[in-house]
Amino acid sequence: MRQSRTLSATEVPSKRLLLRTAQATDREGFIELLTDPEVQAYIGGPQPRSDVEQQVDARLADVTPKPGRYVIADGTTNRFLGILTLNRRSPEDGGELELGYVLRRGAWGAGFAFEAATTALRAAADELPDQPVLLVTQTANKRSLTLATRLGFRPVRTYEEYGAEQTLCTAPLSMFRT
Ligand SMILES: CC(C)(COP(=O)(O)OP(=O)(O)OC[C@H]1O[C@@H](n2cnc3c(N)ncnc32)[C@H](O)[C@@H]1OP(=O)(O)O)[C@@H](O)C(=O)NCCC(=O)NCCS
Repeated sequence: MRQSRTLSATEVPSKRLLLRTAQATDREGFIELLTDPEVQAYIGGPQPRSDVEQQVDARLADVTPKPGRYVIADGTTNRFLGILTLNRRSPEDGGELELGYVLRRGAWGAGFAFEAATTALRAAADELPDQPVLLVTQTANKRSLTLATRLGFRPVRTYEEYGAEQTLCTAPLSMFRT
């Protein structure tokens, strides 16, 4: 049987959230994520709104399926809260699953990233064979490292990239099986 590349579901609900595909109504939320200096502090820095608008419009116009890329929405209001990715690295980079998460500043501190990540990892663990999942974060990004640890990821090594120290963390996917 051919191994799925990543989690195949296009929608995954949880107690408070819905992981879903992007919609036109997410435009302002995406623009905010890319332009907010606090959100972008450890992930490349904020971009000017004028540059980001075109990028976001192109992304929203592209309706081809994007497995492993989710908008984190409020399960009741459908409001955009952030994004979660569970993508597979290219074969040249090892081909492993890699988790990523970005929340709008106003959605920090409520456990939404933890809930979204747990939901996606559980669904992936129920669908895919056991394998390591990677997570890379700047070592200075304490919120992200705390979240990674709470999810059960363990730091394996640090290295320099993009002018900053990065921490590579890993967890076995089977740890999230329900
Ligand atoms: C990394 C990031 C997603 C973490 O967000 P977060 O809200 O701190 O993460 P969590 O979902 O784990 O929430 C934890 C907080 O919610 C609180 N919380 C409230 N209700 C909760 C619940 N039901 N369950 C868990 N935590 C809850 C926790 O006490 C904690 O609060 P604290 O930060 O005051 O200690 C966020 O800071 C972010 O988007 N940063 C910018 C993007 C980025 O750097 N991404 C990482 C790329 S590698």
